[in-house]
Amino acid sequence: HETLKEFPEDFLWGASTSAYQAEGAWNEDGKGLSVIDVGNHPEDVSDFKVASDHYHNYKEDVALMAEMGLKTYRFSIAWTRIIPDGDGEVNQKGIEFYDNLIDELLKYDIEPLVTMYHFDLPLALQKKGGWSNRETVEAFVNYAEILFDNYGDRVKYWLTINEQNVMIMHGDALGLLEDESDNIKAELYQQNHHMLLAQAKTFNLCHQKLPEAKIGPAPSIAAVYPASSKPEDVLAADNYSAIRNWLYLDAAVFGRYNEIAWTYMEKNNCTPEIEEGDMQILKDGNPDFIAFNYYNTLAVEADFAKEDKESNFSGDQKTVDNQPGFYRRHENEFLEQTEFGWEIDPVGFRTTMRRIYSRYQLPLIVTENGLGAYDELEADDTINDDYRIDFLRKHIKQAQLAISDGVELFGYCPWSAIDLVSTHQGINKRYGFIYVNRDEFDLKDLRRIKKKSFNWYKNLIKTNGKEL
Ligand code: BG6
Repeated sequence: HETLKEFPEDFLWGASTSAYQAEGAWNEDGKGLSVIDVGNHPEDVSDFKVASDHYHNYKEDVALMAEMGLKTYRFSIAWTRIIPDGDGEVNQKGIEFYDNLIDELLKYDIEPLVTMYHFDLPLALQKKGGWSNRETVEAFVNYAEILFDNYGDRVKYWLTINEQNVMIMHGDALGLLEDESDNIKAELYQQNHHMLLAQAKTFNLCHQKLPEAKIGPAPSIAAVYPASSKPEDVLAADNYSAIRNWLYLDAAVFGRYNEIAWTYMEKNNCTPEIEEGDMQILKDGNPDFIAFNYYNTLAVEADFAKEDKESNFSGDQKTVDNQPGFYRRHENEFLEQTEFGWEIDPVGFRTTMRRIYSRYQLPLIVTENGLGAYDELEADDTINDDYRIDFLRKHIKQAQLAISDGVELFGYCPWSAIDLVSTHQGINKRYGFIYVNRDEFDLKDLRRIKKKSFNWYKNLIKTNGKEL
């Protein structure tokens, strides 16, 4: 029998969204264009122009979140609402929108948890080279300063960059590569270095300006499993974990490059250019906590046999999914999959938390975890998403077990508070506790309807996790 510790009394039960996936109003009130607004998305699913129309419905949405009992709401600020071209004039209307949103949250005692940047880089910056251009570092820090100056009196929890590791690993998917250079990997790791600098400087700035506030990174972290107990597979899992997980967090927390990841970059001719003083900047910026997104674990095998057959750049060199000679992804036969083919691994959630905590010894908060599924709006206006309840229940149980193991976990924010448009798979891949009545192309009435999971989560929060 496992001895269970209870969730801490001030545990931050929350839920998450991001600006471009929920807000809509893509060109209203002075908002500038972001890479997302012009990005490629599959033709058979919705774009992000209207999304859940949260921009015009934020009051109703926050009231529903309050009814659910949320202690925190994790949302992102659209950089292009605040500074339409990324590094120029401030747009007062944009400042006002988040002023109002934050005030509305505080009215109900919901703690705002703010992501500064969730995939939606201002297009004007991208046109100047985006993260490949070192000047974007200063643009980000200036933007952060504007956020601290305007909202720092009310926002206590800050997140710098959502899923930096995913952006780097799949840079092409998120519109971060302007022109195809001959060495895409080198370009992406250079972008990564610049993001790390921007982040470290922002950690520092936050501590200088807002001594009471707390700030952290928000990567996607996943325990990596070896496909078997074959020693080479175990090594391959370590390799993948180094370049998928630890590269990012070692830099954020310890201010240094993970050595296995660095060696990988050397072998692949993609080490970033590091200017004098950069490593000191990384050392000087320290996070107060680690936020992370968790959807599933990953299994890999060594596949060293293929080493000679494929050169390192023969596959899809834009992603790091398979790196011949280093590791190869492996489907985990022990796990079930969602309707969208994502593996479901609640125990891996516990493993992931234990690994992060034992490596960094910083408090953790989960900023995303959830089930994307097709929901059915019944004739009686209900959505009986028992599968989502089941998914969340199993993960929350594992969170409690991780706490019982000694992990300092201070919050859990599933994805997503309300239905929103998935990164690549449209509105009908739903994650929310609150249903938004629209289809991919038919906006219908955008009505909000509480799903069965809404009431389940409400009760869970009320009992502080006891009635799981
Ligand atoms: C995370 C992102 O990668 O996963 C979210 O931070 C995203 O923006 C979420 O929506 C779920 O992924 P998807 O592809 O199902 O939308």
